[in-house]
Amino acid sequence: MWSYSNPVSIHAGDGALSALKKLLGNNSYGIVTYRSAYFSSLCDELTEIIGRPPLHIVDGVEENPSVNNLRQLCDEIASLEHKPQMMIALGGGSAIDSCKVLCAGGGDFDKVYNFIRGSGSIDQAIEFICIPTTAGTGSEVTCWATVWDPENDKKYSLSDASLYPVAAILEPRLTHTLPLTVTVSSGLDALSHAMESLWNVHRNPLSRLYAEEAIRELICYLPRLANDINNQEARERVQQASMLAGLAFSNTKTSIAHSISYAVTLEKGLAHGLACSFTLPTLLRANVDDPFIRLSIEKAFLLPCEEAAEQLENMLQQLGISTLPSSYGYRQDEWQALVDNAIAGERGKNYSGDSAQLKSHFDFIYQQTDSAQCL
Ligand SMILES: NC(=O)c1ccc[n+]([C@@H]2O[C@H](COP(=O)([O-])OP(=O)(O)OC[C@H]3O[C@@H](n4cnc5c(N)ncnc54)[C@H](O)[C@@H]3O)[C@@H](O)[C@H]2O)c1
Ligand SMILES: [Fe+2]
Repeated sequence: MWSYSNPVSIHAGDGALSALKKLLGNNSYGIVTYRSAYFSSLCDELTEIIGRPPLHIVDGVEENPSVNNLRQLCDEIASLEHKPQMMIALGGGSAIDSCKVLCAGGGDFDKVYNFIRGSGSIDQAIEFICIPTTAGTGSEVTCWATVWDPENDKKYSLSDASLYPVAAILEPRLTHTLPLTVTVSSGLDALSHAMESLWNVHRNPLSRLYAEEAIRELICYLPRLANDINNQEARERVQQASMLAGLAFSNTKTSIAHSISYAVTLEKGLAHGLACSFTLPTLLRANVDDPFIRLSIEKAFLLPCEEAAEQLENMLQQLGISTLPSSYGYRQDEWQALVDNAIAGERGKNYSGDSAQLKSHFDFIYQQTDSAQCL
């Protein structure tokens, strides 16, 4: 038995922003975004489209929102005499996830903080609309948010069905200014979401359809975009593929590549999209015997699974990303311990493949590197 559901209404393509006015109705609204001239001008544009100003703009979003940063943003909302009836998240995963935290507690950070550490409950106090300006996290169609706690080397996941956005508006032009590094790393995050929904105990026929389409688009258009950052067609295709990957993993959650990535990001500071994608070719090779994955990968890559793994590895290398854990400073024993921990972690438990087989594939990489060094 399986089920799939996702309640987010999606508006995508040139002119999608025009849907905003109707989606907000007569509700008062606030905007959650970063503090920069570009995002301030985007806020002005939204105000013009909506035809009335926001009650408040929370513009202190930081990259990888932390406990301390989110507490400040929540306090800002809590101190308002009139809270907005709806919020608009304008930005990448960091802005969207910050907005989810604000909306979950209605500005009460401790309520959300207790909930993510296992006590109490949340009842989403404020509804919200997402306008992503990066293309990768899929957060515009998921009901969870990542909360970072760098002081304690921890990462929390806020997850509740009430945290689905009301709507996602994908206006391609808003991603045109995204720098190359963020474009590549967030695009690879999307690829990882799609692939992670395949080697996943929660996969189902619908998540599989979304994943296949997302992978097909990303392997074609992400390298094109990286070679020509002004390619507008590639921008739009990557943005929509990222949303499709979001629809896939909104019902499965992520799996072992993400579980591994959290430690790599915390220990080595590697960007999320790179940390959760450099292991994908090895994971694919470890799963070629799963007929379900084989078929999906062959449909997406139009290649036999083994060749698809090679193409993926070449693509990552062309994007400047090594698929060797040693390149990120891990000795074999350190990497083995990290993978063991990742398998035991919350997302690692979603992995549908054989853990021993996965570990032997990583060991093989180290043996190959050792013998290459002896030549
Ligand atoms: N909730 C989820 O489902 C989910 C999934 C994956 C990742 N995440 C989280 O999302 C965060 C990463 O989000 P992200 O990769 O989208 O990046 P981000 O939101 O952290 O933004 C990265 C940088 O890009 C800038 N930026 C964003 N859009 C821009 C634009 N159009 N033009 C110019 N600059 C722009 C931002 O100001 C910021 O400096 C992490 O905290 C990660 O843990 C959440
Ligand atoms: Fe991710």
